[in-house]
Order: sequence, then C-alpha cells, then structure tokens
Amino acid sequence: MASARDIKSSKDVSSLNTSQNLGFSTSPNASFQSAPSSQGGSVFATPIVPLANAKHLKPFATEDIKVLLLENVNQTGREILSKQGYQVEFLKSSLPEDQLIEKIRDVHVIGIRSKTKLTARVLKEARNLIVIGCFCIGTNQVDLQYAAEHGIAVFNSPFSNSRSVAELVIGEIIALARQFGDRSNEMHSGTWNKVSNKCWEIRGKTLGIIGYGHIGSQLSVLAEAMGMSVIFYDVVNLMALGTARQVPTLKDLLAESDFITCHVPELPETKNMIGQAQFDQMKDGSYLINASRGSVVDIPALIHAMRSGKVAGAALDVYPNEPAGNGDYFNNTLNTWGTDLRALKNLIITPHIGGSTEEAQRAIGVEVADALVRYVNEGSTLGAVNLPEVTLRSLTMDEPDHARVIYIHHNVPGVLRKVNEILGDHNVDKQMTDSRGDVAYLMADISNVDNLTIKDLYERLESLSSRIMTRVLY
Ligand SMILES: NC(=O)c1ccc[n+]([C@@H]2O[C@H](COP(=O)([O-])OP(=O)(O)OC[C@H]3O[C@@H](n4cnc5c(N)ncnc54)[C@H](O)[C@@H]3O)[C@@H](O)[C@H]2O)c1
Repeated sequence: MASARDIKSSKDVSSLNTSQNLGFSTSPNASFQSAPSSQGGSVFATPIVPLANAKHLKPFATEDIKVLLLENVNQTGREILSKQGYQVEFLKSSLPEDQLIEKIRDVHVIGIRSKTKLTARVLKEARNLIVIGCFCIGTNQVDLQYAAEHGIAVFNSPFSNSRSVAELVIGEIIALARQFGDRSNEMHSGTWNKVSNKCWEIRGKTLGIIGYGHIGSQLSVLAEAMGMSVIFYDVVNLMALGTARQVPTLKDLLAESDFITCHVPELPETKNMIGQAQFDQMKDGSYLINASRGSVVDIPALIHAMRSGKVAGAALDVYPNEPAGNGDYFNNTLNTWGTDLRALKNLIITPHIGGSTEEAQRAIGVEVADALVRYVNEGSTLGAVNLPEVTLRSLTMDEPDHARVIYIHHNVPGVLRKVNEILGDHNVDKQMTDSRGDVAYLMADISNVDNLTIKDLYERLESLSSRIMTRVLY
C-alpha cells in the first residue's frame, strides 16, 4: 500500500528524489507519511460520512507537520492534532508581533483565539503556513483576504456554542417571568420582598423566536418541553420542529408572543429590527430577549417601552458597543444610554456570555481541530471562511495508486483549460472546482499514478502563472 504523502509548493521541489522510495521532501512542503488514525471526524461538522475503508491521505512523516497553538486552545483540540503525529507546540498566551513572526516562519498550521492578530505583515513571514484555525467564533483577527490570496485556508467554529446560548435563553425566560433577578438583587441588599403580582409560570405561554437557525431551533425544542407554544419568524421557509409553527411576518410574531427572542445574524436588514414600531406591535406586558447581536435591538426604544410598561421585562447579552476586556467599562462612555438601561426593573444584563461554557469551548476545540486535520490530510475546505468550499469523497484503501491534486489559483480566464490539459493525460476519477472572488480551489482525484507522474503533475501545475499553491496528496 502506498503511503500517503503531500506535496505543496516548495523551494525544495528541485530536491524531490523520486528514485528513493517515499523520498519526497515537501514539508508540507516536506515529506509526509501515514500514521494510524481514527476514522471519521467531528460529530459537529463532519460534512461527508467517511467510508469505512477510507484511505487517509496523510503526510508520510507526520512529525514534519509543525503546529503552533496559542492562547490556551482547548485540550480537546490539542489532543486531536497530537494524535495525528504532528509536532504540536502549545502556548498559553498570545505572542507579541515580533515573537509571533519568529515562530510563524516555521509552522504549517497555526491555531489561535481572538487575541492573536494575523495581519498581512505577520502572514507574509509565514512561508510554510497552509492553514489557520480560529478556535473561536469570530475571524476578524485574521487578514482573510491576504490569507486567501496566498492559499492559506482559515477555519473557525461558528455553531459549537448554539446549545449554550439556547440554555441561557431558557433560564432567562423563567427569570423574567418570575422577576427573580430583581428579587435576588433586593435580597443582596438586605430587602425581603415576597410578591406574586405579575409573576407567571411559563407553561402555556407563547414564545416567538426571530431567526430559526442553529440557536433558534434548539431553543424551540427546549421551550416546548417546558410547555410553551412556539412560533417563529424567519426569512427562509423552514421545517418546524415539534409542534412549532412558522408565521409569515414579524408583525404576526410580535402580536402573538408573550416572550420574544432574537436569533438573527448581524446584517443591514437586522439593524434595529426591534425598534419603536415593533414594540408598539407587541402585546402589553410582553418580554424581550436578545442574545444575538447588539445592533438588532434599538436600546433607547427598549428603555422607552420598559418605562411605559409595554414591555414587562427584558434580557440582553449583547450590545452595540462592547468592551474589549473585563473591567469597569459598562458605562455611558461606552453606550450613551448605559445609566438609563441599568436603572430599569426586571432587566437582566449579561456580558456576552451566551456561548461561554466549558462544553462550548470543548466543542470548539474538536470542531476546529477536525477541520484542520481534514484540510491537512485530505484538502477539504468545507467550513473554510475565506476559500470556496470544495470537497471530494475520501479515497479508499482499494485505491492505492490514486493521488489527490489540489490546485489553488487565481480565477483568470482560460485557467481551467490549462489545468485540464495537464490533468487530461491521466485518468481523472473525480474533480471539483469553485471560486470565491479572485481565488479558486480545484480538487481532482487521479488514478494509476506513480511517483514520477506525481512529480511531473506537481511541477507542471506549479509552472502555471495562475498558481497560488499546489498540493498533491496520496
Ligand atoms: N450571545 C452569544 O454569546 C452568541 C453566541 C453564538 C451566536 N450568537 C449570535 O446569535 C445569532 C444567531 O446565531 P445562529 O448560530 O443561530 O445563526 P444561524 O445562521 O444558524 O441562524 C440565523 C437564522 O436567522 C435567519 N435570518 C436571517 N436574516 C433574517 C431576518 N432579517 N429576519 C428573520 N430571520 C432572519 C436565517 O435565515 C437563519 O435561519 C447570531 O447573530 C450570532 O452571532 C450569539
């Protein structure tokens, strides 16, 4: 059985010695070798069910793959990468730019969270880098365009914390209905205030979910289990879970719901989606929850609606302006209405903790590490945020003489004709290509190849003017 190896663009390509068995020096421009590995990937994001006898296209000297993990990336992620046999260096903190530049020169994979800034200046030095894993939700800390133009894929984990957000919202629905945030605050300051007036069970009440995606749909199931009726509004027609019901307009949802919760993305269309006009359409004494994005709710309008009694309670986890770090920052300098908001009764305000649980951190570790392994070993870009999403079903152990060609290139007229002229001399079993802006990603599985053919394919693709990066996995 041929060992799986990977060739990527390399200054060393002239040193490839195909007469020596497994002698390619490509790192991932260097040599790659198969190592025992588990079948399959993450339960969170495995896009294609792996075949039972899938052949793992792995570097044949896995220890040549250098991985740098910064910012205390969760242990789950570290373990997945170490089990592959990669050389994993782990640091608890981020690094100042100069030290980062020193370290990044050498590595093929880097894992970061939100504090490490991968600017064009830093990435320019990362000559061996093929992939970046953001072990978090956001990717603003990475120059995505620069990375794409240099064939560096970027992955993140947008949905690993959906359940955590849904559970927070369930807690808030009960807390608002029973006013227990206020009761607890009063007790903390020594006041016993036993009341039942305007305190409710949630059983039989209607929950209106705006945005029925990953979080909204989880929430739907949990809310029904507690005896609520669920309606939802979404711009897409979606399969309702349980006995939930989609309503045609936001207005319908606002008019029918006792509790309204927002789970839409931040878009121009969702900015101030809940403002004065929408508060007017709500039932008197309804409740509003926003754990989506701070721009979705017009806060001065909410303050007005709560003062007038239209809204009986609200929970906010997100704000138009949020501080960069922990501290005494939630004040009028940050948001002009800060003091007015904080003075409201039956208002729960939390510091963007919806997705902040141990479970979510672990899930992020697994999801991102799995994506990195799939990219390094098989070239799949499913879930990448800066490259087109391209994948092919895994090669199997019954296909020992197959190679997977990955050609990342500028999307210029005539490029596919030239690439297919090169591939066309061989038996192309399957091929997929897609582009995103100027950058295109092509994957092709070729059968009946030997080392010489692989070297030839690699060199011919590398010589094309459209080339950004070539990798050949086998
Ligand atoms: N508080 C936190 O810590 C936290 C954690 C994770 C996610 N979030 C935020 O929660 C929100 C939802 O996340 P998700 O993972 O469920 O997203 P998602 O993409 O899975 O679902 C969003 C849904 O909103 C719908 N939608 C888009 N525009 C709409 C509109 N104008 N009107 C109605 N529906 C619309 C989409 O069709 C989709 O079904 C996002 O804003 C995300 O940033 C917050």
